[in-house]
Parts: sequence; C-alpha cells; structure tokens
Amino acid sequence: MTAIEAASFASPWPGYFFQAGILHKQAHPLVCLTLPGKALAGYLCLWLQDHEIQIQNLAVHPAFRGRGVGRHLLQKGLDLSLELGAREAVLEVRPSNLAARRLYRSLNFSEIGRKPGYYTNDGEDALILFLDLKNTFQPSTVD
Ligand SMILES: CC(C)(COP(=O)(O)OP(=O)(O)OC[C@H]1O[C@@H](n2cnc3c(N)ncnc32)[C@H](O)[C@@H]1OP(=O)(O)O)[C@@H](O)C(=O)NCCC(=O)NCCS
Repeated sequence: MTAIEAASFASPWPGYFFQAGILHKQAHPLVCLTLPGKALAGYLCLWLQDHEIQIQNLAVHPAFRGRGVGRHLLQKGLDLSLELGAREAVLEVRPSNLAARRLYRSLNFSEIGRKPGYYTNDGEDALILFLDLKNTFQPSTVD
C-alpha cells in the first residue's frame, strides 16, 4: 500500500495510518488484488461517522490505472456504505485532479464547497464533494 501511496500522492500517508485505519472500528478498508501474481492493484479507505461515510483515500497502482479498478473500488465501497447504514458520502479532492473528479462526477458526486489552501505541501485548495447515497447513488445490481 505504501508503494502505491508514494506513487500517487505528493504527501503520502505513512504506513501507520493504514495500520490504524485497518484496526479502528469506524474504518472500512477495501483492496483490489489481481491474480495470479496477487499484486495489489488499489485500495479505498472509508471511515463511517454516524450516517456519513468519509472517503479518506483511493489509489490505484499506476500500472493498473485506466482499467476500471478505481471505479470498481468506489462502487463497491459505496454499496458497502449503504449496507452499513450510511446516508451520504463526502470527500476532498484537488481541483487539479481531473481524473478523480471525472470518476466522482460519473457516480453523481456534486461539489458543495471548497477548503482554501487545504493541501499543506503546496497550498492547493480542496473541493468538497458530496453524494446522497439514498437518492442519487445507483447501487450494484450484481456482486
Ligand atoms: C483517480 C484514480 C483512483 C482512478 O483510478 P482508475 O482505476 O485509473 O480509474 P478507472 O479506470 O476506474 O476509471 C474510472 C473513471 O475515472 C475517470 N478517469 C480515470 N482516469 C482518467 C484520466 N486519465 N483522465 C480523465 N479521466 C479519467 C474516467 O471518468 C473513468 O471513467 P471512463 O473510463 O468511463 O471514462 C487513479 O487515477 C489514481 O490512483 N490516481 C492517484 C490517486 C488519486 O488521485 N486518488 C484520488 C484522490 S481524491
């Protein structure tokens, strides 16, 4: 995970973030493995707070990007969120992250705000995206 993280973000999570995120009862991590090499293709880290699911991290190994892994992880994560009783999903994304924004938009996330200078490494703002899971999310019909 830390290798994908380092390849994906300017300020990668340290390894202990993942350990804490796997062990905590509010955390609901998902990973996608490819077979037969069992390489880790990507992961999604969710945090359930009351009826809100916070998408804390989503990353796909550069070698596996553009093949539907990110969409699959997000769709399954939101399916799981509904099962856990979440009503809404929120996340932050860089305005410059056009690939991620397009993915979120395709799942009906909408922009509800902006955090100026949120990313401390370079001062870029964060966009706050929101999804009404009950009314605007389309759950998977098959597993
Ligand atoms: C964003 C990310 C998770 C997407 O994962 P992915 O597996 O490559 O995405 P998918 O192949 O599932 O594509 C899903 C959708 O994302 C969008 N997308 C993905 N790559 C894109 C690109 N290079 N340019 C524009 N849109 C892109 C498209 O809408 C695509 O749907 P489409 O294929 O029907 O057009 C991946 O690029 C990544 O890990 N980036 C670095 C980490 C990151 O930015 N995480 C998000 C933080 S908020």
